[in-house]
Amino acid sequence: MLKYVGIEEKRVLLSAIGVLTFSAGVLAYLYWGRGVDLPGCVTDVAPYQEASVKRLGDQQVEVKYLAKMWAFEPAEIQVKPGTELLIYLHSADVNHGFHIDGTNVNLMAVPGAVNFAKLKVTREGDYPIVCHEFCGAGHQNMAAVIRVRESAGPDAIIPVPLAQSAAPSGGSQKSKLTPIVAAQAQKLLATKGCIGCHSADGKVLVGPSFQKIFGRAEKLSDGSEISVTEEYLRESILDPNKKIVSGFQPLMPKLPLADDELETLISYLKEQK
Ligand code: CUA
Repeated sequence: MLKYVGIEEKRVLLSAIGVLTFSAGVLAYLYWGRGVDLPGCVTDVAPYQEASVKRLGDQQVEVKYLAKMWAFEPAEIQVKPGTELLIYLHSADVNHGFHIDGTNVNLMAVPGAVNFAKLKVTREGDYPIVCHEFCGAGHQNMAAVIRVRESAGPDAIIPVPLAQSAAPSGGSQKSKLTPIVAAQAQKLLATKGCIGCHSADGKVLVGPSFQKIFGRAEKLSDGSEISVTEEYLRESILDPNKKIVSGFQPLMPKLPLADDELETLISYLKEQK
């Protein structure tokens, strides 16, 4: 059959075959020669709607990450050096990126599919995770972290203070929250994605800052003025786009929140005054 092919075509064919063979060779070398895990789409794990962290053995932890606008769940885990992480990734809404800084783990979170990568963490320190796929207004705040510590507890999960940015502002006012409620609230703020859009330090992100929010006078987009009460907070969480603070866009999604989670968030927000 090759006799019907001209010199030029032959040359093109040969170089195409050459490039293909070379690429396959590089992949094979990385996989077998260098032990690099090629991230792949896994088909034996069904898409899930809840993130989870599970210890599989002394040195192995399975993490099912859920990416959603605009947070990763779990936002933070803590493991000992030498742990092998089996990382699953799924998206609850749009496409998100997932890159673990300082490693070759680079995945896409895709709705309808679960992706997988393996990572052995050897050095102590923080491995930040960022979203590298533009996914909307809160994209640049979408991050998580893997903390590798000799002191890590057995369950790999950090129950208390998550993102620094969600910490209550200032130490001057006395908080009426018990430490447990405060910790639960901060965990919710991180895992439900609140801190992707609402800062705790007054910085204006996608939505109004939580700093001193309680009792604050807000001008709404319809020109009216309100002061932030418990009732307003409740309404704004349950029906986020009913009233929009002037200067902001109606972007907040309705969150799947249990009743007690709603109460926890409200009691936290009431302390931000
Ligand atoms: Cu998620 Cu960008």
